Amino acid sequence: MGGRPGEMRTASADARTNIALVKYWGKRDRALNLPATGSLSLTLSSLRTTTRVTFDETLDRDEMDLDGQEAPPAVAQRTGRFLDLVRRKVGITMHARVESANNFPTASGLASSASGFAALALAATRAAGIEMDFPSLATLARLGSGSAPRSLLGGFVEMRPGALPDGSDCLPVQVAPETHWDIAILVAVNGAATKEIGSTTAMELTRLTSPYYREWLRSVPGDIEVARQAVLARDFSALGQVAESSCFRMHAVALGATPPLLFWTGVTVDVVRKVWEFRRNGLEAYVTIDAGPHVKVLARPQDAEELLRGIAAVPGVTRVLVERPGPGARITDGRAGQ
Ligand code: DP6
Repeated sequence: MGGRPGEMRTASADARTNIALVKYWGKRDRALNLPATGSLSLTLSSLRTTTRVTFDETLDRDEMDLDGQEAPPAVAQRTGRFLDLVRRKVGITMHARVESANNFPTASGLASSASGFAALALAATRAAGIEMDFPSLATLARLGSGSAPRSLLGGFVEMRPGALPDGSDCLPVQVAPETHWDIAILVAVNGAATKEIGSTTAMELTRLTSPYYREWLRSVPGDIEVARQAVLARDFSALGQVAESSCFRMHAVALGATPPLLFWTGVTVDVVRKVWEFRRNGLEAYVTIDAGPHVKVLARPQDAEELLRGIAAVPGVTRVLVERPGPGARITDGRAGQ
């Protein structure tokens, strides 16, 4: 089916970003974008991407807007390749207009491929006229980005790496919904607007050149087990400790790459030290950092206000957002960005 003359089909979806508490860093299959290990994440409450996809028979190429402007070429190309997967699956040839918006400044460096591809997978398949079962949708989202399937679900999510060569057993599973446990995540924004090196490239460099890569892979399953039990038992100390440790092990294996992958700024380190100072003084909070300079702080809700004041006062921190556990991706009727 190429689309009937004048045919247009549209759907919108939104998805929240997620923060890995046990990190995904490394792939077992590049073409299928299969992670080498599992990971465990928390879907956030408000950092969100809303995406509208319109398959339009009159278009002669895909078009993509990001936050109301034409998307940068690299983003548009990655989106186009993803739409090709959807077209192939559904058997259509129509091009699409994609309008995507983040409810946070894209230039803050918080833009997330996880929320982006979760929302895109949902909106594109719905607009193309199919309602996929969950495993197929998660597989599609994973082909966009390895962290994206986790954003399809709310609350605490474990990404199972699977063992089958085709990746059909690599799926996200909800450990507990967002209502299970109210914890706070503070996001301390600082530094560079855009990443110098993307996660995909950085992971490959780590796999190929870091002498610690095997040990890193060996360490992850145990961390996932501890984190899963901590979530189920609502054990804040246990979850915080394993999250902080997973974060620094991920950065250690990346620092071991050639050339070394250093995602931090001086401000990143200052925020970590500030959180550790709080901890020494009896306020228990833990840090985690992804492939960028921002520090995310895990805290008990009643401590969020005091931590926010302390972290916002660290020179170079431009903004601190306070997040809670949030819901999974869903189809919406709204327009992108609303
Ligand atoms: C550090 O999911 O962005 O945030 O699969 O190559 O798109 P690709 O990578 P991506 O990597 C996320 C890396 C991380 C850790 C995590 O979210 O688990």
